[in-house]
Amino acid sequence: MIRHDDRVTSPSLPRAYGFAPARGAGAVVEDVDGNAFLDFNAAIAVCSTGHAHPRVVEAIKEQAEKLLHYSASDFFLPIYAETCSRLDDIAPMTGPTRSFLTNSGTEAVEAAIKLARHHSGRPYVLAFFGGFHGRSYGSLSLTASKSVYRAHFGPLLPGVVHAPFGDEDPDLDFIRNHLFKRLVKPDEIAAVVVEPIQGEGGYVIPPDGWLPKLRDLCSQHRILLVADEVQSGMGRTGKMWAVEHWGVEPDIVVAGKGLASGMPLGAMMARGKLMTWPMGAHGSTYGGNPVSCAAALATIDLIEKELIANTVDAGDQLIAGLRELASRQPLIDEVRGLGLMIGIEFGSDDVADAVEIASFRQGLLTLRCGEKTIRMSPPLVVSAAQVRSGLRIFDEACRQVAERGPEAFVRYIGEHEAGPDVPEGA
Ligand SMILES: Cc1ncc(COP(=O)(O)O)c(C=O)c1O
Repeated sequence: MIRHDDRVTSPSLPRAYGFAPARGAGAVVEDVDGNAFLDFNAAIAVCSTGHAHPRVVEAIKEQAEKLLHYSASDFFLPIYAETCSRLDDIAPMTGPTRSFLTNSGTEAVEAAIKLARHHSGRPYVLAFFGGFHGRSYGSLSLTASKSVYRAHFGPLLPGVVHAPFGDEDPDLDFIRNHLFKRLVKPDEIAAVVVEPIQGEGGYVIPPDGWLPKLRDLCSQHRILLVADEVQSGMGRTGKMWAVEHWGVEPDIVVAGKGLASGMPLGAMMARGKLMTWPMGAHGSTYGGNPVSCAAALATIDLIEKELIANTVDAGDQLIAGLRELASRQPLIDEVRGLGLMIGIEFGSDDVADAVEIASFRQGLLTLRCGEKTIRMSPPLVVSAAQVRSGLRIFDEACRQVAERGPEAFVRYIGEHEAGPDVPEGA
């Protein structure tokens, strides 16, 4: 099967390891050979309500029987507006919001860049080193987590500048004293686009005052603050949006991944008064497809009413268990996380790679991110017993790598051995 895939699919796809899923339920997913895995990836923070949650599946079936598609760009699709209303209910800003729905995270980031430029009339956008915002040209121009994503695709979007994230510039000195003074005047910057917790860049949490300082800086210069919550949103961190941990209100929020439990849907939510672009300025044939919207409505209900509470409990349990493991396992340098968005940093990329592979071989799916970190982003339905099993397997994987050395866990994908530069998902 992998050999066949290897012949017909684009070789650019960043495959992590030889896992070929066939079906899933909750936090368990089965491969094509019938092996069951505990899924601490949730298909990269996408299957928020778990695999095939019955209420989401029911909503999808019901909508599919009624209407598979009609473009909300050209006509009035009731379920599109209903989804925008539900997003307005849960938006992390006071006052009314409006939303533009897309098929993916990257398209929602594109929409945010376009709206910010259109509304402000300013050309520049500021993003952060270590950030990941997608792979289409606009979002790729913001992405600065690994150079392989950008290599040989230039020139990228003009007018994008980058600054250090979080701990690397706790008081925003670089932006104030270098960027504003030497490169770009603040009144030429339309938007600052930031992941409240960096995802693909390593599950990096900024120090406590950092996002509020960024909010103040943006307000001072009338720069729009765009929170890219594609990975950190939809309850993943134990609050609906990660910015809520710091009481920060963005002007625009970008959502995707967990929004519709695996159906393709993204959203660019903005304060209503920013949506000054005229009819025809932006649209999409499929964005806000009714089946994806039905999945999103069921997902939002589940997360709001049931799963945030479980995320807090399961997240506390998983972080505590990993910290206990780190206290006796010298391979682990740091465990950091909020809710079920958890990074485990190792001493080197070799060791992190090896632990990921050793976990996979024993039935636990995890994924690398950053330079030497493994991320855990289980479905928000994960149970206490599943957390205990995941911890036991991860402990054993670390023990095996410590005992046999990282070279004993080579990553084979079909006939290829993945090179050290190969990124894994996003
Ligand atoms: C923070 C963030 N923004 C944007 C994206 C792009 O989303 P998509 O892959 O759906 O285009 C991703 C994930 O891939 C992401 O993690």
